[in-house]
Amino acid sequence: SASNELQGKKVVVTAGGTREPLDPVRYLGNRSSGKQGVAIARAAQVAGADVTLVAGHMEVDPPAGVEIRSISTAQELQKAVFEEVIDTDVLIMAAAVADFRPAQYEDFKIKKTDGDPQAPVIELVKNPDILKSIVEAREQKTISALDLIVGFAAETGDGHTSPLEFGQAKLKRKGCDLLVVNEVGSTKGFGTDTNEVSILSSMTSNIVHAQGSKDDVAQSLIRLIAQQLKQN
Ligand code: C5P
Repeated sequence: SASNELQGKKVVVTAGGTREPLDPVRYLGNRSSGKQGVAIARAAQVAGADVTLVAGHMEVDPPAGVEIRSISTAQELQKAVFEEVIDTDVLIMAAAVADFRPAQYEDFKIKKTDGDPQAPVIELVKNPDILKSIVEAREQKTISALDLIVGFAAETGDGHTSPLEFGQAKLKRKGCDLLVVNEVGSTKGFGTDTNEVSILSSMTSNIVHAQGSKDDVAQSLIRLIAQQLKQN
């Protein structure tokens, strides 16, 4: 077994979903369970890494022995990631980050008025793309280390273009080193206990396929990461 292949390495994993508040009782959220990210944090820890889990909203408990930093919004996630990646070897961005947030937070619950046929229109603004901003910071050398930056992408095809082709385009656009492409379907991805992914690399055209339990997929990813670190 390779129980020490990440010995001495520091790994930051983000997991779970963000929540973007609208008023004191409402938010924009997503269906991320956090299961895959937690499985990756566990696999990295088993491989001997010093692991920090930046945890959004999750349906599962974080693994014991891992440092936890809890966040709620995308902006909090961005701040936490930039603070935690200092002296880190590997960043794995498994969190489901809301692309948009309500433009305005209402201090009081938005009321519905009886007899008023109008519904409120909620204006959204874009959240920062955290993965992209980390890649840019590495390019500009405003952050140290980070030998490997790993992104995730939940993709479907569109009838013409396959999920993997979308993944290849995203890998280039985001500029990360590895992209774990998750084909989204009823038995795969969000909330389920099994997963099937293709891992794309900016350094080689070889594609690594991994499937099974989320722990199996996590172990395959960690093995690949350990191999890549050796080649760097
Ligand atoms: O563009 P897309 O949302 O498919 O990209 C997914 C990848 O980008 C994931 O690794 C996710 O954690 C990251 N992401 C991010 N900031 C966003 C949206 C996504 O870091 N605002």
